[in-house]
Amino acid sequence: MSDRITQLREDFDRELAAVASDTEAGSLRDRWVGRKSGLLTAEMKTLGKLSPEERKTAGAKLNELKNSVEVAIDGLLGSFAAKREAEQLAKERIDVTLPGRRIQAGHLHPITLLRQKIEDIFVSMGYEIEDGPEIETHFYNFDALNIPENHPARSPQDTFYLTEHLALRSQTSTMQIHAMQKRQPPLRVAAPGRVFRRDTPDATHNPMFYQVEGLLIDRGITLGDLKGTVEEFVRRLFGLETRTRFRPSYFPFVEPGAEIDYTCFKCGGGGCRVCKGSGWIEMGGSGMVHPNVLRVVGIDPEEFSGFAFGLGLDRLCALMYGLDDIRLLYENDVRFLEQFS
Ligand code: DAH
Repeated sequence: MSDRITQLREDFDRELAAVASDTEAGSLRDRWVGRKSGLLTAEMKTLGKLSPEERKTAGAKLNELKNSVEVAIDGLLGSFAAKREAEQLAKERIDVTLPGRRIQAGHLHPITLLRQKIEDIFVSMGYEIEDGPEIETHFYNFDALNIPENHPARSPQDTFYLTEHLALRSQTSTMQIHAMQKRQPPLRVAAPGRVFRRDTPDATHNPMFYQVEGLLIDRGITLGDLKGTVEEFVRRLFGLETRTRFRPSYFPFVEPGAEIDYTCFKCGGGGCRVCKGSGWIEMGGSGMVHPNVLRVVGIDPEEFSGFAFGLGLDRLCALMYGLDDIRLLYENDVRFLEQFS
């Protein structure tokens, strides 16, 4: 009997080693310890034929084998379940270090960013922001601004004429007239917008570009107010250490007129690539509003005076963002535009 049990154990171990699934393990269990036809169950039944002595030892051994069969099958089922769980976990594993998917968001155009910054500065200095027409009569674009009949700016080589009487505005100075017609002095207005000139496009020119016009009219306004305002404006835009200088110049709608330069925001005035080594960057034109311009809109130049200044945004934008060609601003290339925010 002892040999037989050893043989049975060997058989079982061999069969156990070949089991590859839960179902096979179930069949193995039925085959060996199934209540009806299990090999060991049948073996138990033969014990009755043995002598009481033999029955005792053989019974104990058979029971032991039966238990170890149960334990082995349970163990195998357990290891199958653990393997399945491990596989499931591996499959569902989330890599929390993986970067998330970026949501595509739009970007403001660099000119818009600069324009908003400038508008904020004007508003903080008490100016109203005004928008006006891009198509103008000669009155607003030239006559009211004291620009003489024979002035080169009126030439069709410089200005886009639409009809005999209408043209695309060539400067935001037109907004000075609109602003003064709309309000009574004292007034402070800033007008950003697009202007148009028949320039051949190149790295620093585009037939359409942006300007901002500032206008202030009040009693007793002097050149000192213009200088102080421009200085403050430039400091708010580029930083407290920025200095300005005024170079006498001529514009028909101001007297006296001056061009404004400010110390380079990159090198602070020492000279670098941005300011082409001079330490200064040109900002735009300015001056005290010409009495003729005040008279056109019915303001008495004896009672009121004021100043105006205008600056171009495109070259400034190019300098600030390190662009070597302002045409990039108008090509609508998303790869370019999405770099700004
Ligand atoms: N409108 C001028 C231009 O486009 C710039 C300018 C010069 C504006 C003098 C002003 C000013 O307000 O006072 O070149």
